[in-house]
Amino acid sequence: MFSISFRHMPARITSALAFTVLASGAIAQTSQPVKVGLMLPTSGTFAELGKTVANGFKLYVSENGGKLAGRTVQYVELDDESDPSKASENANKLVKRDRVDVLVGTIHSGVAMTMARVARDTNTLMIVPNAGAAEITGSMCAPNVFRSSFSNWQPGYASGLLAARKHKTAVTISWKYAAGDESVRGFREGFEKGGGRVIKDLNLPFPNVEFQPLLTELATIKPEAAYVFVAGAGQVKFVRDYAAAGLKNSIPLYGAFITEGTLAAQGDAASGLQTALHYADGLKNPKNEAFIASYRKVFNATPDVFAVQGYDAAQLFAAGLNAVKGDTKKKAEMIKAMENAKLESPRGPLSFSKSHNPIQDMYVRVAMGNKNVMTDVIVKALADPSPDCKN
Ligand code: PHB
Repeated sequence: MFSISFRHMPARITSALAFTVLASGAIAQTSQPVKVGLMLPTSGTFAELGKTVANGFKLYVSENGGKLAGRTVQYVELDDESDPSKASENANKLVKRDRVDVLVGTIHSGVAMTMARVARDTNTLMIVPNAGAAEITGSMCAPNVFRSSFSNWQPGYASGLLAARKHKTAVTISWKYAAGDESVRGFREGFEKGGGRVIKDLNLPFPNVEFQPLLTELATIKPEAAYVFVAGAGQVKFVRDYAAAGLKNSIPLYGAFITEGTLAAQGDAASGLQTALHYADGLKNPKNEAFIASYRKVFNATPDVFAVQGYDAAQLFAAGLNAVKGDTKKKAEMIKAMENAKLESPRGPLSFSKSHNPIQDMYVRVAMGNKNVMTDVIVKALADPSPDCKN
């Protein structure tokens, strides 16, 4: 083992030597690749969403020559299968075996809550590029945990305000897990604020797609509107089943994500659906135009909100890394820079609340052909209230 004794040296020389040893340590670290753990689903109901988030993250890195703050980015990727029962083992693999510098994930709220617990317990930097679980930026909030997407409350609340523009009563349908429950809670709050009333909540287990009994019940209740939270592959079937059941014209359907990234598969069944979300097709800002062109060039596809969230996760990580010139050991400084980051996101200006959740405009969109066309803004600079975060 190599060691240096400073005992018999003059102070001037020892401090110079100590500096050299420390500085070369930092250089050794910053000349190594920075390890990004991508824990996302590549199989199951949320597979497409996981792949799109990863695409967005990688796009930002490749636009910067494959490096962040001068360090080559190395990915360690793992399919989380959107399975909460495997989340702890998977997250621990990335943190303890692979020693990633940042944990990026995931889509499913239940999986992400366990990841956040692992990140908090091991003081690993984490960025959530989708899952909206309230706890992550609420009761479990932590200095080292950030979200580049939304809290489930945000799009739910915006959707409630939107539905209340035209309707007085609504029934909700959701998958029974954190994201469904919280999204519905947000919807109720927005809908009541606009003068509406939710008369019944219906649900089914994640990722079940046997919607027929719920649609039959909805038709007998006859509310003025319906709000749904199912996602990924499930939302394709839901929107098609809804139209096939003849409900599309009699009970207008709302749902924040319900048409995002899936219009081609939903076809006419989705045409005309109004949604509220923090991204939209046709958003006019220079960053979005450049982002769409760049994404198309690399992936030969049109980006959606999931690509934006992945891209912004990389931008947020870069903001931290740049502030410390790639030296991830300076964690407190990195975190400060991330907290204060003002990002130019394709969705518009993006900053973060005290709980590390995005503050963002919520757009109204209408499904036309293959686009969720932006029509107006339902609420500007919406922040999650996060009353339980004691950061
Ligand atoms: C979630 O589990 O938080 C979730 C999943 C898919 C979405 C939105 C939220 O589209």
